[in-house]
Amino acid sequence: MPTPSSRPDRYALVGHPVEHSRSPLIHQLFAQQLGENLTYELIDAAPSQFETAVLGFAAAGGRGLNVTVPHKEAAFELCRIHGPEAVAARAVNTITFTTGGLRGDNTDGLGFIRDLTVNNERAIASRRVLLLGAGGAARGIAGPMLAEEPDALVIANRTIERAEALRRDLGAPGNVSVCRFDELEDAGEFDIVVNATSAGLKGERPPFPGSLVRKKTFCYDLAYSLKATPFVTWAEANGAGWAVQGWGMLVEQAAEAYAIWRGKRPETREILGKLLALSDRGAVAG
Ligand code: ATR
Repeated sequence: MPTPSSRPDRYALVGHPVEHSRSPLIHQLFAQQLGENLTYELIDAAPSQFETAVLGFAAAGGRGLNVTVPHKEAAFELCRIHGPEAVAARAVNTITFTTGGLRGDNTDGLGFIRDLTVNNERAIASRRVLLLGAGGAARGIAGPMLAEEPDALVIANRTIERAEALRRDLGAPGNVSVCRFDELEDAGEFDIVVNATSAGLKGERPPFPGSLVRKKTFCYDLAYSLKATPFVTWAEANGAGWAVQGWGMLVEQAAEAYAIWRGKRPETREILGKLLALSDRGAVAG
């Protein structure tokens, strides 16, 4: 019989849908690496059930939650205490149950920056960067990208008003501009192009002009898949020197969440390697 103190600490991901998530595997690999005892569950909750799911998990002894689509804004509203990245993004992907109430953090931006700059060794400072999209995913990374001081950050979106709103929320700095996709033909060359849209995921061609990609362009898709994503296929077909999926960001944002909850940051390179190897062998559903 396990004693109460030997019971594993409980964590979970809440989203809708969540069934294909790799987060349980990633957190188990982290715990294994650090010799810790925890469980990580999946909670599928429709928007109307979100608050009940979070509070129910806390009441049942849960220690923390990750939050994914479509609940990140609702999680921000539900939390009493916020980390600075969550305040900037007005979205929360990591909830910690503290004695002072629910604390919300956002580790997406940090995870993205770490994957781009450390794992992929790409500097943003002094570079021309294009952000495709102005929805929740784009909002999570725009502030952290700007903090790296790019020469220019262009935000392109199908709905221009959303790109304008994002620029305003960033403080409308001089090095940030907005445009529509068709205006990108004349926008010059970019060092880094980041896809934060869901365009292409339903089978249609990504609606960006191929001319914005050059041999020197590093293309990064926030999406990830066992096959090439539509954006990666598109970038390679248009001659990009590099086109990567968001697996590294997935692992890095999880490591930041783990560090918030447990005070220890896992070594991510080893875990990313294991995850990709398992995915290659089809051992990870997707
Ligand atoms: P997420 O949280 O994944 O960012 P979201 O907030 O709904 O989800 O944002 C989706 C993004 O993909 C938006 O930038 C959206 O453009 P609009 O703001 O114009 O809606 C973009 N997007 C989705 N489908 C698209 C398509 N078929 N073509 C172009 N952009 C698309």
